[in-house]
Amino acid sequence: MSLFIQSVQLKPGAKTALFRQLYAAIKQAILTGALQPGMQLPPTRDFCRALAVSRQTVLNAYELLLAEGYLLGEVGKGTYVHHQLPACSETKSLSAPSPVAQGENAPGLSQRGLRYADTVGQSHVHQDKTRVFRVSMPGLDAFPFDTWARLEARRWRHHEDKLGYSDSAGYQPLRELLAVYLKASRGVNCHAGQIIITSGSQQALYLLPTVLLDPGDAAWVEYPGYRGAIAPLLAAQVEVCPVPVDVDGLDVAYGASHYPHAKLVYVTPSHQLPLGMTMSLQRRLALLAWAKQQRAWVIEDDYDSEYRYNGAPLASLQSLDQSGNVIYVGTLSKVLFPGLRLGYMVLPEALVQPMLQAKTIVDKHTGIVPQMVLTDFMAEGHFGRHIKRSRKLYAQRQAALLHALDTTLKDELSCAASDGGLDLAVHFRRERDEQAVVQAGLAAGIELRGLSYYAMPTVLPAPANFLPGLLLGFSSVTEKEIAQGAAGLLQVLRTLK
Ligand SMILES: Cc1ncc(COP(=O)(O)O)c(C=O)c1O
Repeated sequence: MSLFIQSVQLKPGAKTALFRQLYAAIKQAILTGALQPGMQLPPTRDFCRALAVSRQTVLNAYELLLAEGYLLGEVGKGTYVHHQLPACSETKSLSAPSPVAQGENAPGLSQRGLRYADTVGQSHVHQDKTRVFRVSMPGLDAFPFDTWARLEARRWRHHEDKLGYSDSAGYQPLRELLAVYLKASRGVNCHAGQIIITSGSQQALYLLPTVLLDPGDAAWVEYPGYRGAIAPLLAAQVEVCPVPVDVDGLDVAYGASHYPHAKLVYVTPSHQLPLGMTMSLQRRLALLAWAKQQRAWVIEDDYDSEYRYNGAPLASLQSLDQSGNVIYVGTLSKVLFPGLRLGYMVLPEALVQPMLQAKTIVDKHTGIVPQMVLTDFMAEGHFGRHIKRSRKLYAQRQAALLHALDTTLKDELSCAASDGGLDLAVHFRRERDEQAVVQAGLAAGIELRGLSYYAMPTVLPAPANFLPGLLLGFSSVTEKEIAQGAAGLLQVLRTLK
């Protein structure tokens, strides 16, 4: 272990904070096997002495690694390398460093590149087999893959129109259909010319701050909120301003008084991620009035509004916007499947050209064949039928989870009301170590995500009203698996007593 300490080289004065450098060094050592599962980490004072850094620097690094599941234990009482690494996207890339990264004299990354690495390291992208309670995952068992395969095969009978480059904005017939669908289902005011098809909504969330904000500009984000939206803001050197949410959604008055200088707002008004509330009309109008007055952009991420189990979906925020401040972002990841990587943004007219140029620079255009298949899927009525069927199925799955929360888990968990989406936020009935619950759940084959994952405590100051808890996904597994998962979760919670 002392060899490891000696191998750590921190750069005081670099743009990346010392604790982040230390965190990265320890994580790299764990992922490459230099620090083995079960190994005890040195006491913080050893690191302080050897590296000439403050104890707080070491504590911050340890706490981040504990929160992300690389370490186990408690700072001060012994900290160990976890025997099971968290399943996250960076595991593969870091465990097999490229020859360039290994070379002694290899050129380094830019500050921007380092920031990307840092922000991606904050997010987990599930790539393994779905387990009970996985969040934000549609029920792939309900998707009509046969129909999709048949439509795709039919498209390939004529290949001439698929082999070259296509329109950066996306397949025109698809954009026409989307404009009609969004108008009818969400009240979105737009024509096809305002829609750009993106590679997942993630690409829209990346391109928008890149084009609309300069480094140092401020943006409000819901807190807790979606890391997929926060990471591109951090990568773009934007000042991320956490605005708390309550039963009415984003606290606009808080944002306006604490961050009046913000130039952009990211919001999930239909179904807040992760807490699940719907933004009230009063708050929506207040947000639009503030954005108009401040000449700020509002990104409305309407990722899962198809799934409301009591009544029709609410009209979008964009439909209330009279001033052209709102950019509407949507995804096919929830309503179809995430591997499709199709999303879209609906832009005020003035933004269409600049965003098209940015999209062209990034990837010329999104893959054309899935767009064509989706066009047929929509035009032939499969899309509408799938939404109807899956909505019914997910309502049953949500009811199964609510039943389990009302019976099996009644004494342990409480849940906030939610009438939509693919996930349900729950809180502990008594004080618990959220990360310990998540880790014990994983060890028992139950996939849990702590609510503090969305609070990013290592990047942003914790909101005053934040309550720890779990986000439980219900849409991707059967009712029977939900009941079994609830029984397993109860066992986990009892064992941790
Ligand atoms: C709030 C939110 N927006 C968007 C998405 C979808 O992202 P993508 O379209 O890149 O798959 C998700 C997926 O989990 C989400 O939770």
